[in-house]
Amino acid sequence: MTATLIDGNAIAKQILDALAAKAGSLREHGSRVPGLAVILVGSDPASQVYVRKKREDCALVGFASQAHLLPTETTQDELLDLIDRLNQDATIDGILVQLPLPGHINPETVIERIHPDKDVDGFHPYNVGRLALRLPVLRPCTPFGIIKLLDSIGETYKGRHATIVGASNIVGRPMALELLLAGATVTVCHRFTNNLEEHVRAADILVVAVGKPGLVPGEWVKPGATVLDVGMNRMPDGRLTGDVDFEGAKLRAAHITPVPGGVGPMTRAMLLHNTLTAYNHVQR
Ligand code: GUN
Repeated sequence: MTATLIDGNAIAKQILDALAAKAGSLREHGSRVPGLAVILVGSDPASQVYVRKKREDCALVGFASQAHLLPTETTQDELLDLIDRLNQDATIDGILVQLPLPGHINPETVIERIHPDKDVDGFHPYNVGRLALRLPVLRPCTPFGIIKLLDSIGETYKGRHATIVGASNIVGRPMALELLLAGATVTVCHRFTNNLEEHVRAADILVVAVGKPGLVPGEWVKPGATVLDVGMNRMPDGRLTGDVDFEGAKLRAAHITPVPGGVGPMTRAMLLHNTLTAYNHVQR
């Protein structure tokens, strides 16, 4: 058996097309379009690429965007002042602070300063709490995008066992909340988990978000499983690869996401989806 690829590019495009249609109709009616502010502190090359792509996505769908590219030496207070101004700015619906931040800035303090109604990353404790209580509004983009991918292949969740490898605030933890909300039985594995293999072998739905190429060998994948690989690892030869042994896993899984072109494009699409949700949720 060879797995069917889950085409993240195609599904993200459907979402972006729908957002573009919405922005077009707002413009036609003379209304303000949704606006996203993206803040980058420092010059991490990968973060620079992500921020540029997020702005390109805004331009593509016809949303307004602002980029605030700040030097590494920016103080935490200066960053908090900028967030305060954007919180007050009626043309801005979403505020995203690209992570990681330089070491002298506390990410929790910064995330908590973003108004929860403008927290399009879904990282504010208010939004994480709402998701935990089955009352989601703004949902972390990568887990939300993975749910859209699973929905697209007809996943039914109930009675299915999901194993998540990685317990980060950005992916693993909110992924567990999303899958629980959808009705799956969820196991979360992390650096202190004994016998990772046993938990992976039990998974009907396997999400891997660690950042270690080859962490999950193909033989661990349950025959017929769905595999979602969040890893984005740059190899010495320049290739991008995920955390799962793709060639091996493909022989056992029923569905699998490629890297690149699987989860990544969905994360970007859900950011703009959240920006529209923020625009609709709070009439400014
Ligand atoms: N760094 C890596 N992923 C993300 C993300 O989804 N949002 C933000 N703000 N920073 C990130």
